[in-house]
Amino acid sequence: MTTAAFLLLKIEHAGPARAWLQEILKGDLTTAEEIPREQRERRHACLNIAFTWHGLKALGLDEDALQSFPYEFRRGMAERAHVLGDTGPSAPEHWDFGGKRPGSPPPEDLHLLVMLYARNGDVLRNVLAHQRQRMAAQGLRELSCQHAAHLREEKDGQIFFREHFGFRDSLSQPVIRGFMRPPPSEDYDSPIAAGEFILGHENEYQEKPPSPSVSPRQDPHGRLGPAEHGNRKDLGLNGTYLALRKLEQDVEGFEAFLEQNKALAPIDSEDDAKKKEWLKAKLMGRWPNGAPLKPDQHEAPDLGSHPPSNAFGFVREDAGGLGCPVTSHVRRTNPRDSLAPNPDLSLKMNRRHRILRRAVAYGPSGEEDGKASSGRGLIFMALNANLGRQFEFIQQSWMNHEKAGRLFNERDPVASNHEGGSITLPIKPLRRCVMDLQSFVTMKGGGYFFLPGVKSLEFLAHLQPPAV
Ligand code: HEM
Repeated sequence: MTTAAFLLLKIEHAGPARAWLQEILKGDLTTAEEIPREQRERRHACLNIAFTWHGLKALGLDEDALQSFPYEFRRGMAERAHVLGDTGPSAPEHWDFGGKRPGSPPPEDLHLLVMLYARNGDVLRNVLAHQRQRMAAQGLRELSCQHAAHLREEKDGQIFFREHFGFRDSLSQPVIRGFMRPPPSEDYDSPIAAGEFILGHENEYQEKPPSPSVSPRQDPHGRLGPAEHGNRKDLGLNGTYLALRKLEQDVEGFEAFLEQNKALAPIDSEDDAKKKEWLKAKLMGRWPNGAPLKPDQHEAPDLGSHPPSNAFGFVREDAGGLGCPVTSHVRRTNPRDSLAPNPDLSLKMNRRHRILRRAVAYGPSGEEDGKASSGRGLIFMALNANLGRQFEFIQQSWMNHEKAGRLFNERDPVASNHEGGSITLPIKPLRRCVMDLQSFVTMKGGGYFFLPGVKSLEFLAHLQPPAV
């Protein structure tokens, strides 16, 4: 699917909204159910839905069940701005939705996220028009609609996605044990326990993640299975949490930064493009073509028809970050084997802080608009079973950790919010430092959502709200 629309809706009338849920469960909703390949290939559009905590309340879930959700989800993303580093221009006061900007949809009105994906723009327009008509008739008010489309690159029959700064994206993803084809044997780590991403399954602690539940009273028709603890019913089974962030990318600012600082590259030639590519790669932690960075490598290796490798660690060849800087985006967001006290423990710890990323670019691509447009970025989505231990941890303790690598006042150079700050590039014989780093990414809106499993959706669709 190449193109997408993300709709945020308010549930104005719970009864008709539940009837709409019952309707989409009969066919429109895309589930994880295995279907024959030909059927999958014939599919032209996909539809997924997710609820905020306020949305579950608006649908009629009782207080007892609502309180069984984890703290971060109940608070919502805007209330976690201090943890996520969403300050200054990225603060909720400036968000397009889900924040506190007067006139924009506030978090308590954001109830439902409808994610529509389609093979092309025409299909998307048709599906969108059809769904809009149905939703409007069934007590759902549209608050915002964000279009997005993958920036696709086709090479030797393989398809890659790029993001607006020009890097291939979505190369490194956790493989879920028992649910996905195992990675090639040379990959840097083995598949991750399903319970890191899907509720109701064992996680990397060999236990089931905390799951929301309801009292048996709310489930008179026995649609839900028993919960792990107490005499309760499990609302979480096969569900997950989604952190959605609209991240605006300052492509011109990023390019201007590369232009201004290209002299940092230890490249003895007049080739400015090569120098800028080197600097860009050092900030990201991969070459734009996706190849991992190695010490003493001054230009991107030609990958030929091979996909970029994910089979790398840092400790053996690159402990000091002469290839991939310790503070680069990729090394911060997945330090692999490089955390103290040793590689084995590092890999083990890392497995408890993974996310499944599903990002789609929005706004015109550089080629289309003559490179002069603002309003470009990423609809960033992270799926995980524990928002605090996975998504928030990566953002707070790795991306925004100011003393990572025994440095000072540094954050993720690409994706963090900077107010001053610097980036240090380890280079022989002397490291180089850029002070007063600007933000290249600004947070524009977002929220925390719960994606229920099919059985839980059926339960929600037939929910009998508590008598008042
Ligand atoms: C506009 C903002 C962002 C951009 C442009 C961006 C771009 C990229 C790119 C190009 C890669 C390398 C390709 C790959 O390994 O798949 C990457 C990897 C990654 N990013 Fe981001 N990213 C952004 C925001 C975020 C945020 C907010 C998070 C998490 C809170 C995040 C987490 C990750 C992770 C976990 C990886 C994989 C690292 C690995 O396994 O080696 N990114 N990102």
